[in-house]
Amino acid sequence: MSLRQMARLLHYSPGWISRVENGRAIPTDELARACDELLALDGELIALARADRSGPVGLLRPAQLPPGASAFVGRRALLKELDVLLADANRRESVLTVALDGPAGVGKSTVALRWAYEIADRFPGGVLFTDLQGNSPEARPLAAADVLEQFLTAFGLPAAAVPADEAERAAVFRSIAVRRPILVILDNAAGSRHVEPLLVGARGCVALVTSRRRLTGLAVKAGAHRLSVRPMDQSESADLLSAVAGPERVAAEPTATADLARRCAHLPLALRIAAERLATFPHRSIADAVAELADRQHRLNVLTDIDDPHLAVRAALSSSYRALDDEAARTFRFLGLFPGATIGAAAAAALVDRPLGHTRRLLEVLAAVHLLEETGPDRYLRHDLLRDYAAERAAEEESATACQEALRRLVGWYVGTARDWPPHAPGEAEVAEAAERVEQVEQVEQG
Ligand SMILES: Nc1ncnc2c1ncn2[C@@H]1O[C@H](COP(=O)(O)OP(=O)(O)OP(=O)(O)O)[C@@H](O)[C@H]1O
Ligand SMILES: [Mg+2]
Repeated sequence: MSLRQMARLLHYSPGWISRVENGRAIPTDELARACDELLALDGELIALARADRSGPVGLLRPAQLPPGASAFVGRRALLKELDVLLADANRRESVLTVALDGPAGVGKSTVALRWAYEIADRFPGGVLFTDLQGNSPEARPLAAADVLEQFLTAFGLPAAAVPADEAERAAVFRSIAVRRPILVILDNAAGSRHVEPLLVGARGCVALVTSRRRLTGLAVKAGAHRLSVRPMDQSESADLLSAVAGPERVAAEPTATADLARRCAHLPLALRIAAERLATFPHRSIADAVAELADRQHRLNVLTDIDDPHLAVRAALSSSYRALDDEAARTFRFLGLFPGATIGAAAAAALVDRPLGHTRRLLEVLAAVHLLEETGPDRYLRHDLLRDYAAERAAEEESATACQEALRRLVGWYVGTARDWPPHAPGEAEVAEAAERVEQVEQVEQG
């Protein structure tokens, strides 16, 4: 629409509209509202006009990053990948949205913060951070409208200038991001829809999201790049133990260090808790710590911080498990009865007593929230701590008969006969043998 047309429709002079447009005059509420309606901008202009009137000095530059992990180690490849994505977005002069996903406690938030610190200086508009509490066991996830209010006030907008509803707040937020590039960290998101209203589209801006869920919706709708954070490798795990418990101890017991990392499933949260225990008890050897984690039924108790029981592998896994629907939760529990690390869809179908197609869907649901990892067609892996937790849930929430029946179906499936074989409840050795053979058969089938 030309300026002249607009002036005619609004009953203002073209000269005045031009002054407002060029920032040489501040519009009244009445003019801002009229322009807003004419251009269908959902209240964006009225909010901006109020913000302009209330602050002659312009916007503040927020710097909201909380402190990062005290002893950060590893993750070079992932940080490099993020750098490449950013360089590419800069070259194309576009916005960059990245979603980091991965299992509970794998280090998503830690690596996101680390990268944010590395690049924070490049954003003249400032850096915003929010913990969306999408997987916090006690708190409800933060509502996007509340986060937007917090962001707008961080720019120095007085409370009176913050619009009442979510869409208007988002519109003002985006208008601010257009002025100068900003970095936004949206940590611990519950899902794609949770973060959509908080994304910015202006070039030069970066939004970094972390979630336990694969944010495929965000990739489809907002062109987000998805990267998965995986457990650490052996040398990163040793570096973490060394950074917290002391390099001399780790150097003195390399084999025990490798065993300890394995028993922690190379999961940073578990490694960190184990490392803190070593630091707390300097007279204990690393071999002692390995022995302490030998008993699978006791392992999750050991991997709980004494000072802060919320800082625990069990607590982290439990918040993922509690968010599942009934059938996915039942599947997760029954998979805990399977002694092996990897399981195929057919063996899983026998365990949960559902048709194969339906079981595949259930396994996909678990994989989408990283309670399983798909390693090939119809093949799934979970780390040891996840298996221990699932076994714990089965023992607590399923009857002994239901567990025995599930194992009977598994053994029956393995011998390829009627599913109600063997006629007796299978013993531990029988189940272990079945599981081992199931894994072997599946590996052969995989070629
Ligand atoms: N690269 C690292 N170096 C050192 N410590 C780390 C690293 N990554 C993670 N940690 C430790 O592991 C713990 C868990 O990490 P973090 O909170 O980042 O996991 P997360 O994947 O975000 O978990 P959640 O799914 O619960 O949000 C942190 O307390 C941190 O101390
Ligand atoms: Mg996190």
